[in-house]
Amino acid sequence: MSGKKRILTGDRPTGKLHIGHYVGSHRHRLRFQDEYECFFIIADLHMLTTKPTKEDIYQIGENARQIVLDHLGIGIDPTKVTFYLQSAVHEVYEMQLLLSGMVTVERLQQLPSIKDMASAAGLEQMPYNLLGYPVLQSADILMPRGHLVPVGKDNEAHVEITRQIARRFNNLYEEIFPLPDPYVEGGTLVGTDGQAKMSKSLGNAIMLSDDSKTVRKQVMGMYTDPKRVSADIPGTVEGNPVFAYHDFFNPNKAEIEDLKSRYREGRVGDVEVKEKLYIALENFLAPIRERRARYEEQTGYVDELLYEGTVRAQKEAQETLFAMKKAMGLTGVWNRIRRAAENRQKKLAKAEASAE
Ligand code: TRP
Repeated sequence: MSGKKRILTGDRPTGKLHIGHYVGSHRHRLRFQDEYECFFIIADLHMLTTKPTKEDIYQIGENARQIVLDHLGIGIDPTKVTFYLQSAVHEVYEMQLLLSGMVTVERLQQLPSIKDMASAAGLEQMPYNLLGYPVLQSADILMPRGHLVPVGKDNEAHVEITRQIARRFNNLYEEIFPLPDPYVEGGTLVGTDGQAKMSKSLGNAIMLSDDSKTVRKQVMGMYTDPKRVSADIPGTVEGNPVFAYHDFFNPNKAEIEDLKSRYREGRVGDVEVKEKLYIALENFLAPIRERRARYEEQTGYVDELLYEGTVRAQKEAQETLFAMKKAMGLTGVWNRIRRAAENRQKKLAKAEASAE
C-alpha cells in the first residue's frame, strides 16, 4: 500500500457531466490525482433514492461508462485512480447499517440538501433511504478511510456528518477512521439561462462531450442583460452569465477586461461577447472531446477499468468492514458461538465413533 493520503469522491450515474460539474468539483480531482490515492465512486445506490425504477436502473451501466469517459476526457489518468461501482461493493451496505446509529434522525431531517432532493423528485413524503443518503455517503467515504473529499457546495454538510459519524465510532469503539476533510472550492456555475444551477434536465447545460455545433447554439442563446435591446445601451457585467463563463473559461484576461469595459459603456454587441466566449469554450472543450473519443474507440476499455477498480474497492471494503466489526467486538461474538458449536459437534462425532 502506498503511503499517500486518500481521496474519495464521485457522482451519481444520472447522465454525462457538464461544465458546471467541472467548475464545481471535477477540476480539483484532476489537480489532486498525483498527490493523493484517488477513489472515484459511481454512486448508483444514491441514485436509487430518487430514481428507483427499472428504467432508471437500466441506464446505470451506460451512464457509468459516460461518466468515466468524462473523467478521462478532462485528463484523469486511468492508471492512477480507482473507479468503482458502488452497488457491487456489498460491504458498503453493511457499513451503512453499522454507522446508522452514529447520527440522529433529527440531524438528518434538518439538512437542506435532503429536503431539496425530495422536492426536486416530487416526493411528498421522505423515503427512508433518502433520509439516510448522508449515512450511505459516510460509508463510501469511510470505506477506503478517506482523508479528503472534494465535493460541490451542496455536499459539504454530508462530509460534516461523515466526520461526526467517524468521531462517534472512534470514541465508542476504537480509533479506526481518519476524520475526512471536505474540499469545497470554485462555487457553482449558473445555467446558460442565468436561472438556476446548471442541470441537463433544465436544458441549460453545456456537456463536456457536446460537439462544436451544440456548444455554439447554447452559447449564442445564452441569457444576458435583458435591458440591453441594442449594442449601444450600457450593460451590466455583474451577475451576467456570459461574463461569468468568460471568467472561468477564457484565459485571455486582457480580452475579458476589454469586453467588460466596452459592455459597460455600450460599445460592444452581445454577439461579439458570445462569439469570443464560444471560441474560449471550444479551446477548452476540443482537447477533452478528442481524448474522450480516443478512449471510447477502445471497445471494452472503460468496462475493464470499472471492473478492475470495483474488485480493488471490494478488497478494500472487506478489510475496513472486518476492522469495524472487530473494533465493535462483533467478530468476537460470532467466533465464540462458532467455536463452541464446532467443539460440541466434534465431541459428539468422537463419542459416536467410540461407541461403534
Ligand atoms: N452525493 C454525491 C452527489 O451529489 C455522490 C456521492 C456519493 C459522493 N457518495 C459520495 C460524493 C462520497 C463524495 C463522496 O452526486
